[in-house]
Amino acid sequence: MKTALITGANRGIGFALTQNYLAQGWHVIAVCRTTSPELDSTKAQVIAGVDVADEAAIAQLAQQLAETKIDLLINNAGIFLHEQLGDIDYKTVTQQFLVNAQAPLQVTEALLGNLNDGAKIAFITSRMGSIADNTSGGYYGYRMSKAALNAGAKSLSLDLKARGITVAILHPGYVQTAMVNFGGDISASESAQRLSKRIAELNLQNTGGFWHSNGETLLW
Ligand SMILES: NC(=O)c1ccc[n+]([C@@H]2O[C@H](COP(=O)([O-])OP(=O)(O)OC[C@H]3O[C@@H](n4cnc5c(N)ncnc54)[C@H](OP(=O)(O)O)[C@@H]3O)[C@@H](O)[C@H]2O)c1
Repeated sequence: MKTALITGANRGIGFALTQNYLAQGWHVIAVCRTTSPELDSTKAQVIAGVDVADEAAIAQLAQQLAETKIDLLINNAGIFLHEQLGDIDYKTVTQQFLVNAQAPLQVTEALLGNLNDGAKIAFITSRMGSIADNTSGGYYGYRMSKAALNAGAKSLSLDLKARGITVAILHPGYVQTAMVNFGGDISASESAQRLSKRIAELNLQNTGGFWHSNGETLLW
């Protein structure tokens, strides 16, 4: 049985990905800060109490999983905060850098020893992190943090190639979750289904790519 570890698995896209991989017969390690009744009602192995912005919590997670091999790591947890030019709150910029860019790298690095050779890593980014696609401005912290995430994920794709580990940088679509006040145009389960297709297509030739969940290649 294959094993996936998913962060931010208690709700939204992370929960839908958890359901999707469970339905495909995978063992899922569902990592979250606080579990949810929905997540508890699944067969996932829930590991709660993991704030990905907390270095000690990441170290503890790695320790707890010392004997566990992982075939797929999905760095999904993220936050979307707003800033107003002229009155930017740099605390929210820093917070987004920490959660959206640094934490996925830190979680990945902490779990490198758990990843099987040939494992896959997916980073749930946003097309708002695309500089080429930015036609509406604003959202300084979110855009900058997701662009930084993309840069780090690209480096990982190169550094891990020798181990046969592949990396996908994936925009989930505009998805009906709390992050966007449920205003998206696809459901979380539809997004998860598309994301899992993209992950299935990932290989050593296309590793490090930046894709929309619909399969379209996105510009950096
Ligand atoms: N929805 C969209 O349209 C959309 C579009 C582009 C990209 N994305 C990306 O998709 C990913 C999932 O978002 P979503 O739409 O599912 O949003 P969501 O419903 O708001 O869920 C966010 C998840 O991230 C977790 N999280 C946030 N900060 C965390 C931290 N410090 N430590 C651990 N977990 C943390 C949340 O846990 P708690 O319950 O503990 O807060 C929750 O599980 C994010 O990376 C987001 O940027 C979403």
